[in-house]
Amino acid sequence: MAFASGKVILCGEHAVVYGVPAIAVGIERGVEATASIAPKGSGPQLVIDDRIAHKDDEVSRAFAALLAQLGLLDVVVRARSAIPVGVGLGASAALGVAIARAVAEQCEQVSDAQLLAGTHAWEEVFHGNPSGVDAACALSGGCIRFERGKGFVPLSLPRALPLAIAVAGPASSTKEMVASVARQKDRKPELFSQNLEAIRTLVKNAELALTAGDLKGLGTLLNYNQMLLAGWMLSTEAIEVACQCAREAGALGAKLTGAGGGGCVIALCDEAGPEPILSAWRSLGIECF
Ligand code: PMV
Repeated sequence: MAFASGKVILCGEHAVVYGVPAIAVGIERGVEATASIAPKGSGPQLVIDDRIAHKDDEVSRAFAALLAQLGLLDVVVRARSAIPVGVGLGASAALGVAIARAVAEQCEQVSDAQLLAGTHAWEEVFHGNPSGVDAACALSGGCIRFERGKGFVPLSLPRALPLAIAVAGPASSTKEMVASVARQKDRKPELFSQNLEAIRTLVKNAELALTAGDLKGLGTLLNYNQMLLAGWMLSTEAIEVACQCAREAGALGAKLTGAGGGGCVIALCDEAGPEPILSAWRSLGIECF
């Protein structure tokens, strides 16, 4: 059984598409997958949560692109995901990595680079222009600093990161949100690059705070990142409500995570842990864990 975890981006989403580093961390929820060689002449097949991917749909195209990178075409893969889709938790990358790992178990030898290339090919079908941060985090697990074109560095943390996650808004399309940020870059290039540099500095400081165990400092940086993301029109009323509610319940910082326009909010918990934040969210009817 192959496994890959979902992720949250602590800071640097969207800016990472333009070469700024991002910090991401694996979560316990993930995807499991198994593979077997397809009966002769029947061709590849992918079954996700008991649904068979149909020839010519997006998932089948992504599966074919992934298999081409691994050099094995006649395989049947069954996957089961515990990650909600389209809410910024890296569901599609985790699926890609779990499938690639399951297929790799059927191959003679597959390198990490091939696994990454296979997952990237899968992601490209859904996202168009993915930075690769989701795939890198699903592959590595744990906490990483990722930089487009350079890969990732694992970050070692002095203590576990106490995070609470709210599924604040409806699902959104990463492809559309990335395209809307690109339009803002075209409209106001100078302002856009100033914001990119602000996020670059913020991510650098977040890494220092994380590796020093300074959760208070990290929380302040997460709040600041949320403001910059809101400036790119990625926040929504539901996201703002979830962030505010978490802060009032004692969170050290809160922000959207991933593409925005809906999806999840992360909150960094203080020494009281996640429970006060989770119960504040639940009292507003917000799904969370
Ligand atoms: O798909 P999501 O919601 O996890 O967002 C991915 C992160 C982005 O920076 C918005 C896009 C990318 O390719 O890095």
